[in-house]
Amino acid sequence: MTISQPMKGILLAGGSGTRLHPMTLASSKQMLPVYDKPMIYYPLSTLMLAGIRDIMVISTPLDLPQFQRLLGDGSQYGVSFSYREQPSPDGIAQAFVIAEDWINNAPCALILGDNLIFADHLSQILQKSAQQEHGATVFAYQVRDPERYGVVSFAPDGTAVDIVEKPPIPHSNWAVTGLYFYDARVSEFARRLRPSPRGELEITDLNKIYLQEHSLRVEPLGRGCAWLDAGMPDSLMQAGTFVQTIQSRQGMLVGSPAEVAFRMGYINAQQLRHWAGRMIKTELGRTLHAIADGQQGLCIAP
Ligand code: DAU
Repeated sequence: MTISQPMKGILLAGGSGTRLHPMTLASSKQMLPVYDKPMIYYPLSTLMLAGIRDIMVISTPLDLPQFQRLLGDGSQYGVSFSYREQPSPDGIAQAFVIAEDWINNAPCALILGDNLIFADHLSQILQKSAQQEHGATVFAYQVRDPERYGVVSFAPDGTAVDIVEKPPIPHSNWAVTGLYFYDARVSEFARRLRPSPRGELEITDLNKIYLQEHSLRVEPLGRGCAWLDAGMPDSLMQAGTFVQTIQSRQGMLVGSPAEVAFRMGYINAQQLRHWAGRMIKTELGRTLHAIADGQQGLCIAP
């Protein structure tokens, strides 16, 4: 009997951010602020909430050192970070080829570094997906502009029947989000892919391999959930405003890896206090301190 390994996670933070020029001419997109934190904190918190503690950040050769400086080895959050370069943006699915030896036949999740997901009970939804041993799980969200995304269409009984990348005439308004959970075969499947007409190893083609063998689960995210990608000036602004609204109204943090680490039991109150002490001049630092002292509610909000 083979003992299954814990799921690993990839945080994909490459690309050239052309839709955010000139802001991204001298800085990585995923380093830009979303209200009071760097953008990458939000998807990182999501992976950690799924219970994933072994995480690889993949980015461009130019930007990778910035992420190393920001995130370190992960010990401050009780997790482990590895880093690897993607020499050129040859597709999201290429991450599983680049990281193949590190994944080492474990199941593996991937999240795009510009995706923010906020929902009640998100932790339970994610942990359930991370525990599936066979097949893949993706999430679908209703949007007004599906032609910008991978679009999934459903049969009348709710089963996913097709996924198309950026269809000019979408068959539904259900976009596939940038968070994916795969079983241990993911690198083997990614190696089978061939570049699309736009020259990329498409994540949609990888999902279609699972769809064709009837092992792709598509979880709809309902109206109580927010999924934002912060890849354009308007959506970047909306994401920042959203985070500011929730945080200032409820006094709870959105997208804090330190809080998630504490809530998940990866670090203790003393470690959180130590971390908060480094940013005590900020509202974020003071809130983390209060959380360590048990003065904030127990709701997990990524
Ligand atoms: O946001 C969800 C969507 O993400 C999905 O619905 C689509 O199916 C999926 O293809 C993707 O669409 P995008 O148009 O957002 O993909 P984009 O090329 O912009 O890449 C998304 C992020 O991944 C972006 O922040 C840059 C990063 N990236 C992308 C590629 C192609 C890399 O780091 N390396 C790459 O090679």
